Amino acid sequence: MAELAAVETEHLLLRPWEASDGSELERLMADPAVRGGRSFGAERIVRMAEHSARQWRVNGFGPWAAIDKASGAWIGRIGLDELAEWPDTPKIEVGFELHAAWWGRGLATEGAAAALRFGFEHHGLDRIISVTAASHSAARGVMEKVGLTYQGTRYWMNPEVPVVWYAIDRSAWKARTL
Ligand SMILES: CC(C)(COP(=O)(O)OP(=O)(O)OC[C@H]1O[C@@H](n2cnc3c(N)ncnc32)[C@H](O)[C@@H]1OP(=O)(O)O)[C@@H](O)C(=O)NCCC(=O)NCCS
Repeated sequence: MAELAAVETEHLLLRPWEASDGSELERLMADPAVRGGRSFGAERIVRMAEHSARQWRVNGFGPWAAIDKASGAWIGRIGLDELAEWPDTPKIEVGFELHAAWWGRGLATEGAAAALRFGFEHHGLDRIISVTAASHSAARGVMEKVGLTYQGTRYWMNPEVPVVWYAIDRSAWKARTL
């Protein structure tokens, strides 16, 4: 188990995913704006929540529940996430999903930057990816702002929605943080 698990940023408390976060995830994914074009049935949400908690037990890192420090509100899920079915390696992405009320304040960028540091500095990862729908400008904006670069476009999971993937290597991340 990693010695460092919870992380604080300027506005966020990022703490390891817990079983009890499942009901928050259900509320988050109930919003069509957060789902985007993706379909999230009840079963998929349960699997996503279980996978999030399991990663902490197995890998020693995983997605965080993001808490607004000022109000204590549960605002979303941010952090390192293993995309088990991604057809390339590595499969660890930096992911982010926030309640819409919290969009546009730089919080996904703040959390994603913390996730990169966590992966590269504390867990020895060499490369971190991120995957989103090609049309998802906000997610692509977050990826670019934290230093990931475009790698390609393909169909994955959904034969009608092309996804783009981005990546950053530890050396590139280090050069940015110097
Ligand atoms: C993607 C998401 C996490 C972004 O969260 P956020 O906290 O609003 O993002 P930030 O404020 O940190 O930064 C967004 C950046 O993306 C860009 N951006 C934001 N909204 C945009 C839009 N509608 N169109 C184009 N670019 C946009 C901007 O570059 C912005 O940077 P700026 O602050 O310099 O203008 C949020 O929209 C979300 O949760 N969406 C639903 C879930 C989701 O799709 N997650 C990604 C799954 S792969």
